[in-house]
Amino acid sequence: MSLHHLLFPILILAFSTASSLAATAEDQTLNTHQAEFFNPKLPPRILSSSKKFEGSSDIVDLRYHMGPVLSSSPINIYLIWYGRWSVSQKLLIKDFINSISPSATPSFPPSPSVSDWWKTVSLYTDQTGANVSRTVVIAKEHSDTGYSHGSHLTRLSVQQVIATAVEAAPFPVDHRNGIYLILTSHDVTVEDFCRAVCGFHYFTFPSMVGHTLPYAWIGNSGKQCPEVCAYPFAVPGYMGGGGPGSLAPPNGDVGLDGMISVIAHELAELSTNPLVNAWYAGEDPTAPTEIGDLCEGLYGTGGGGGYIGQVMRDQKGKTYNMNGNKGRKFMVQWIWSPVLKACAGPNALD
Ligand SMILES: *[C@@H]1O[C@H](CO)[C@@H](O)[C@H](O)[C@H]1NC(C)=O
Repeated sequence: MSLHHLLFPILILAFSTASSLAATAEDQTLNTHQAEFFNPKLPPRILSSSKKFEGSSDIVDLRYHMGPVLSSSPINIYLIWYGRWSVSQKLLIKDFINSISPSATPSFPPSPSVSDWWKTVSLYTDQTGANVSRTVVIAKEHSDTGYSHGSHLTRLSVQQVIATAVEAAPFPVDHRNGIYLILTSHDVTVEDFCRAVCGFHYFTFPSMVGHTLPYAWIGNSGKQCPEVCAYPFAVPGYMGGGGPGSLAPPNGDVGLDGMISVIAHELAELSTNPLVNAWYAGEDPTAPTEIGDLCEGLYGTGGGGGYIGQVMRDQKGKTYNMNGNKGRKFMVQWIWSPVLKACAGPNALD
């Protein structure tokens, strides 16, 4: 018998085994999630290269610095829409924020869910042992459609926008569990946006706003730098939102879907480090590495080294890693877990 004859049946066997396994897996995903798992390899993010830890606990010295965390329930978000926002854009972002709190309906939204993702954030405690709150609500909204401080904002004028909203809305002065969240539309430029940051959080100065209030800013990068701030829906090296290898955003909007992961990142960090004296790694409090920074670019199991981790793709090719309210799907980066001493997310496969 020739070698060919020996190999032939083995090859047939190998192929048929592989294809029947594939068919079984396909059936299962179609029946349960209507989705398949995949772990794409993408060019690395531009901004995170200097802070890339990729979940290695050997070099992570995340420590508690004795300051408060947002432990009172609920965490109240005071939302400022700066610039031009459509009703559907606002709805998408509000649906995400409203998906953070545990749902009253068991097993809906189905696992992996946004509220499961926030569980990692609520593992952080202050020195009294109080955990970060599990519930997050949108307490009040203000639309600054007149661009009260122009179409270019600096780090300081962002605080003036908050001062204006606190007076005009009026927003209460909520020191205890308030987050003042400024979102700027695609046509607004912000100091350091796209070059050094996609969003940031800090606290207001009494001299600017009259109070010390934790706040966060995130911009819609869709028209300005999607390859920087809407990763992985746009990837470096290709302008205009997309490029070979980029993934289809779950809600069909590169800028907004990218923004949601940055909002998630900033809310997680702000809640565990609202006055920048609680949870962070590194020796320098002026450039703290926080619980979101440690896991930037990681969305699932097996991430690192250019891979974003195992995420889901639905029948329309849209990429996501967690479910939210109203049947929404979102793609949100993982968060450092103080218990696992590793990056963690609700779609972990182990
Ligand atoms: C509070 O945090 C501790 C320490 O991480 C954790 O063991 C516990 O499960 C947390 N409780 C809640 C309700 O999240």
